[in-house]
Amino acid sequence: MVSPADRPLVTERDIAALLASKGPLRLPDGALLTPAARDALRRQGLDPDRVVPRGSAARRLVIANWKSHKTLAEALAWASELRGALGAASSPGRGAGVVVCPPFTALVALGPPLAGLAELGAQDLSAHGEGAHTGEVAARHLADVGCRFALVGHSERRAAGETDALVRRKLRAALAGGLSPVLCVGETHDERRGGRTQPVTSEQLGLALEGLLPDEAARVVVAYEPRWAIGAGVTPTSSEVIDVLAHVRAVVGRLLGDAAGERMPVLYGGSVTDKNAAELLGLPGCSGALVGGASLKAPTFAAICRAC
Ligand code: PGA
Repeated sequence: MVSPADRPLVTERDIAALLASKGPLRLPDGALLTPAARDALRRQGLDPDRVVPRGSAARRLVIANWKSHKTLAEALAWASELRGALGAASSPGRGAGVVVCPPFTALVALGPPLAGLAELGAQDLSAHGEGAHTGEVAARHLADVGCRFALVGHSERRAAGETDALVRRKLRAALAGGLSPVLCVGETHDERRGGRTQPVTSEQLGLALEGLLPDEAARVVVAYEPRWAIGAGVTPTSSEVIDVLAHVRAVVGRLLGDAAGERMPVLYGGSVTDKNAAELLGLPGCSGALVGGASLKAPTFAAICRAC
């Protein structure tokens, strides 16, 4: 995460030079615009918040969600293919972090082959701590095998009956156990058709995040995943994604303060492929991607990581 002190300052003079060069108006990630630079952009009819969107200081992440796929042997083969494709560098693309969420059974074995290349995440976790909860996997056990992240409230879990109240408890269990929860929010097809995308995502965010302390908020990642786009081979338009990501940041800002709204990684998920990754991951306010089906083949997933 880039701290405000490290963010490159862009002045009115820099903007004038960029405009004079007639090249694409590209500013460094996390750039801070001076008030005069913002005015200079407005005079050109450009919205400063679109040129340097809120959230450009957030950590970039690409997360693979294998769902219920891959045996141990297949998982290990994938890890060695990923290393071959991404090389030994721990930071592909523009310094994005890579996270892999395999089935629980592959977590322990994937630690060594992914070391320095990707971090581990769980696809779900128990809302409880350690105890008499047969079949549940607690945050403590996930952290113990090297997990740093846990998906919370994935739409496939919500479809299996997980309520917002349970999602909230799981998010808190993840934080209490030292993990970074990746909170998944998004609307159904009917909710979208009814124009309810923003109220639905606001409610999911509010119910899960309200009341977090600043140091807890700093560990949360949000993934906007329209439920109708998951595994469907279709995505929203770029401008729809931009609008929802901006809405998510505004809601996070209202709930947890402006700093959280600015710095929280907000990912897009739902039918991300190596073909559409560059466009989706380059959208203003987009901090990366949560990738399901297209993460199952290591070369495809590596191409998505490189696009981030
Ligand atoms: P998909 O899944 O990329 O296959 O649409 C996304 C997800 O499960 O988070």
